[in-house]
Amino acid sequence: MTTAGTGHEQQHRHLLEVLVAAAAPRCQNLAELLGYLPGAYPAEAADVLSSLASRHLIDELTSRRLQASGVPPAQLATPPRQANAPGIELPDPHPLDFDWRWTAQTATGLVTRCTGTTGPGDTIALLGTPTLLPLAVDAPHRRHWLLLEASTATTSVLAARWPEHVQRCDLATGQLPHLSARVVVADPPWYPEHTRAFLWAAAHLSIPGATILLAQPALATRPGILDERAGLLAYAHGIGLELAAICPSTLAYTCPPFEQRALAATGLSASVPSDWRRGDLIELRRTTAPPGPRPRQPSHERWDEITAGRARIRFRLDTEEPGQHGADPRLIPLVPGDILGSVSRRNPIRAHVRVWTAGNRVFGCAAPALLKMIAASIAAGTPADRPAQADTGRPLHADELVKIRAAAAQLRDLIQAEHRDSARDRLDIAVLPTKTATVLCG
Ligand SMILES: C[S@@+](CC[C@H](N)C(=O)[O-])C[C@H]1O[C@@H](n2cnc3c(N)ncnc32)[C@H](O)[C@@H]1O
Repeated sequence: MTTAGTGHEQQHRHLLEVLVAAAAPRCQNLAELLGYLPGAYPAEAADVLSSLASRHLIDELTSRRLQASGVPPAQLATPPRQANAPGIELPDPHPLDFDWRWTAQTATGLVTRCTGTTGPGDTIALLGTPTLLPLAVDAPHRRHWLLLEASTATTSVLAARWPEHVQRCDLATGQLPHLSARVVVADPPWYPEHTRAFLWAAAHLSIPGATILLAQPALATRPGILDERAGLLAYAHGIGLELAAICPSTLAYTCPPFEQRALAATGLSASVPSDWRRGDLIELRRTTAPPGPRPRQPSHERWDEITAGRARIRFRLDTEEPGQHGADPRLIPLVPGDILGSVSRRNPIRAHVRVWTAGNRVFGCAAPALLKMIAASIAAGTPADRPAQADTGRPLHADELVKIRAAAAQLRDLIQAEHRDSARDRLDIAVLPTKTATVLCG
């Protein structure tokens, strides 16, 4: 994030305090309170609540009522499902993709919005919005839908069924197709550099008069959102996209498994509804102005993924000195229980993470490239020390072998834990329902 200086942090905290102090006495539980805090992270809301209570700015009864974590059985319900077509199961989202998927209700509302704004034969571009494709593509309204998405795991599942409607593409740097889209739906990772890249792609792919539907963080998601948004709208204007409407908190997201685990690590999973996260829908209109040059991207972290069954494990490869033969590839614990409490880019632990799973387990490691090779051997069912031996070009020393075998044992345990969690996530877990705010304006 670029804008969260101390001033923004303080303003944000103050805003949350005011909102919580005003709403808490009317609320029966934390879930209800979250409905008054546009997009605020539940752990942050709970912290503000405790702080207000400790200063006697909230009465004790209210504080006890809202901090109680259990949810009465009468209020339990099936969670809002992520939008999925029959027979299509997208891979578990990975935190490094910033992959927050819409609820079925929000996704259906967006598809309806797209078809309502277009006619037969028109093109609709979906940028980083894989949830929409299965709902849109088989419907009998004769639009041409094209999903542009960077995740290989996601695009390979969708392209297996609809190859002509899916293109794997990094929207920040990849080659864009020639399209004349009348509507573009874009949900970039919620950071300015990603949003600028997606906006530029939207301008490049659309025709004058086209509608761009851009998902953005709701206003209390983190410090500085309004300033960030002002910068983005100014950028959009410069590339031929004029603001038409802003619909606050209309987009509802399902809580991905990695976030459920982060909430569980902070003791909040039982009191937070699985569709707590909200986004704002920003509607822009394409003018005749040319988009100009593509925005330059800041240098990015480099992560490689190894999949073993349903387990998705990423290894950070841009931090290691080359030729570190003999370095220790074992996983280094970073946080209690190995689950990251917040995946926010503001979390300082992120700088030390070298291994990160879809289940939100994080570790340090002195030799992540070597560990990745070991993981690849495990996934392929070959001996774990073979790639290290090939890489060094000599027999391994006894102490190197000991470390490699220990690292392989750690990885096998990790893969098992990820499989266990993924299987559990597929069961219907009862959670508290919320008032879903998915009437899309426009
Ligand atoms: C915030 S999620 C949006 C998901 C959407 N809400 C849905 O339900 O379909 C961001 C999506 O953009 C994709 N993505 C991230 N960076 C990208 C890039 N540079 N180019 C293309 N896609 C990208 C991610 O893999 C993810 O699918």
